[in-house]
Amino acid sequence: MLGIGMHVQSVIGRTPLVELTTFDVPPGVRLFAKLEFLNPGGSTKDRIVRHILADAERRGLLRPGGTIVENTSGNTGAAIAMMAAARGYRAILTMPDKVSDEKRDALRAMGAEVVVCPTSAAPGSAKHYVTCARRIHAETPGSFMLNQYDNPLNSEAHFLSTGPEIWEALGDSVTAFVASGSTGGTISGVSRFLKERKPDITSVLLDPVGSVYHRYFHDGVVDPGEIAPYFVEGVGEDHLAECMDFSLIDDVLRFTDADAFAACHHLARREGLVCGGTAGANVWGAVRVARSLEGPATVVTVLPDSGSKYMSKIYNPNWLKANGFSPGDTSERKSAL
Ligand SMILES: Cc1ncc(COP(=O)(O)O)c(C=O)c1O
Repeated sequence: MLGIGMHVQSVIGRTPLVELTTFDVPPGVRLFAKLEFLNPGGSTKDRIVRHILADAERRGLLRPGGTIVENTSGNTGAAIAMMAAARGYRAILTMPDKVSDEKRDALRAMGAEVVVCPTSAAPGSAKHYVTCARRIHAETPGSFMLNQYDNPLNSEAHFLSTGPEIWEALGDSVTAFVASGSTGGTISGVSRFLKERKPDITSVLLDPVGSVYHRYFHDGVVDPGEIAPYFVEGVGEDHLAECMDFSLIDDVLRFTDADAFAACHHLARREGLVCGGTAGANVWGAVRVARSLEGPATVVTVLPDSGSKYMSKIYNPNWLKANGFSPGDTSERKSAL
């Protein structure tokens, strides 16, 4: 249930969980998805930003009127801009120039200062958006950087909220938790909580083709040869994030952009849920895991952000066609899944 609160940060979390009923899965196997896009900042990242900032305030790292600095290309930036506006902080967010105007304008609308850096800048070079954020942080007295990739409070936020909410709703009926990852905060935090309650729950990470996690999990190597561009925004990595705890992960499956987008189209047309590409990936993977099980079983995943941010891509037939994807079948209630 969404709550009633005095401030925007008090209504983060407690997102609804819905059962997905239109996918072809074995009898007795149930699929549930947590609607993380209903957080007030529009994504699951509200949870970690709230938790990390509360800790920084408690420890005096962030003082009234202070400045929050972070490099971000998406949802974390929106959550920071929202929290900064609500709590009276200055927010300086560095972004690569490939990020869409709408995403940048949304941050500016909440009063954040956005520093746009060239996408072509090499990692580590002065103009790269990560280096730029670190320089601004070093040069700005009283500023605080969240460092979401390597900050253990990231997965702790999911351990303390997302995991317990799933457990409260479904209890020990949960068989598997499935999610794609970037920092690994979601899969690590939720898996740790659920496995502490029920050790034989299976956790499955979904990784886009072009990211290093799949190969690392199966062969123990980070292979630069695996790194390749893909369209799904917000998951997969070209390095290992410290928050990604592989000791909690039982399997890693690979997905393609086409897999994720087909699931997005199915979710929109059959379930009425218009979601981002990582939600599509998560549901694609949850369906795969569900098909490997016999009922009774329950598979849970999360829908991290909304499709409204991707109208010009995932839900635009011209863009889909131009990039070699099936535009989906709008006339029949069919799906490629
Ligand atoms: C749209 C989207 N989905 C999923 C994730 C993955 O979450 P995590 O960083 O917790 O692994 C992110 C993270 O940036 C995201 O932006």
